[in-house]
Amino acid sequence: MAERRLMHAVQYDSYGGGAVALKHVEVPVPTPGKGEVLLKIEARSLNPFDCRIQSGIIPFLPQKFPYIPATDVAGEVMEVGSDVTNFKPGNKVVAVLSARNGGGLGGYALAKENSVVARPPEVSAAEAAGLPIAGVTAYLALTEAAGIKLDGPKKNILVTAASGGVGHYAVQLAKLGNQHHVTATCGTRNIDFVKSLGADEVVDYTTPEGTGLKSPSGLKYDVVIHCARGIPWSTFKANLSKNGKVIDLTPNPKAFCIFAWHKLTFSKKQLLPCIITPKSESLAWLVGLVKEGKLKTTIDSTHPLSKAEDAWAKMMSGHATGKIIVET
Ligand SMILES: NC(=O)c1ccc[n+]([C@@H]2O[C@H](COP(=O)([O-])OP(=O)(O)OC[C@H]3O[C@@H](n4cnc5c(N)ncnc54)[C@H](OP(=O)(O)O)[C@@H]3O)[C@@H](O)[C@H]2O)c1
Repeated sequence: MAERRLMHAVQYDSYGGGAVALKHVEVPVPTPGKGEVLLKIEARSLNPFDCRIQSGIIPFLPQKFPYIPATDVAGEVMEVGSDVTNFKPGNKVVAVLSARNGGGLGGYALAKENSVVARPPEVSAAEAAGLPIAGVTAYLALTEAAGIKLDGPKKNILVTAASGGVGHYAVQLAKLGNQHHVTATCGTRNIDFVKSLGADEVVDYTTPEGTGLKSPSGLKYDVVIHCARGIPWSTFKANLSKNGKVIDLTPNPKAFCIFAWHKLTFSKKQLLPCIITPKSESLAWLVGLVKEGKLKTTIDSTHPLSKAEDAWAKMMSGHATGKIIVET
C-alpha cells in the first residue's frame, strides 16, 4: 500500500484543558472509504458545540482520542472513495463533518458524500464555512421547529443573541421575505451591527428592558428563536402572544421538564427544546442565498491554522460577533 502524505493538524488527547490543550501535530492524510470524499480544507468555522465536545459534556463524543475537532469546513475535493457519484477531484465544496470523528482542524478531512454541497465560485471558502451548523440551525429553527414561512404570513419574532453565529443568520433569514417583524437582543457594542442585519427593533441585553426581553414597541412574540442562555421561562411567558412558542436552542434539563409540563397541560404557550441535525439540502439552499447576495456570513475574526488556539479561545469566550474562521 502506498504511504500517505503527512498533514498539519490540531488535536487534543483528552477532555478539558481549553485552548492550551490543543496540540499541533503531523498526521497522515486520511484515505477516503466507500461513500467518502477527501477534502483539502481551505476554511473552517468553529461552533460552541466544538468546545462543548472538548469539555466532555456531550455523551459518546468524541468517538476516540486523539481528536481533531471542528465539523464545518469548506475546501476542494482531492480524492473520492468508491460509490461516490456526485463529486470529483477539483470540485469546490462546503461540508459538515461527523462530530464523532471530527477532522476540521486538519489540513485534509474525510466527509460523507451526502454531507457535501457544491460551492459556486461566488461563495468564498470562509463565507461557506460559516454555514453548516450555525446557518442550517437558524434556518431549520425558523422553518421546521417554529413552522414559519419566510415569505409570510407575518409573525412577530424574537431572536436572542442575534450577534452570534446562529442569531446573525436567523435575523437575516427571518427578514428575507420582508414579512416578519424581528426583535433582536444583543450587547451594547453590537446594536448597530444587528440593525444592519435587518432587525426591526434591537434590545440591549445588558439593560433592564433587555433582561426582561421587552419589545420597545410593546409587541408580544409569536416565536422566539432562543440562542442565548440563562433566561427563565417566566420571562419568556410574559412576552409571548397567546400561542407563542420558544424554540430553545440552548436547552438545559429544566427546559425538558417545562416542555413535558406544557404537553401534559395542553399549554398554548410552549417552550420547545430543540437540537438541530444539519441537512445538506438546507445547506445547499443557504449557499444559494449567499451566492445571490441575500445572506451574508459576518466574520468575527480569521485565524491561521497555525494559531488555531487563538480561535478556540475566542470561541470559548462566548463573545463572537458572527463566525470565527480558521484558514489554512
Ligand atoms: N440546539 C442546536 O441544535 C444548536 C445548534 C447550534 C448552536 N446551538 C447553541 O446556540 C447557542 C448560540 O450559538 P452561536 O453559534 O450563535 O454562539 P456564539 O456565536 O458563540 O454567540 C455569541 C454571541 O452571543 C451573544 N450573547 C451572549 N449572551 C447573550 C445574551 N444573554 N443576550 C444576547 N446576546 C448574548 C454575545 O454577545 P456579547 O459578546 O455582547 O456578550 C455574542 O455576540 C450556543 O449555546 C450553541 O451551543 C444549538
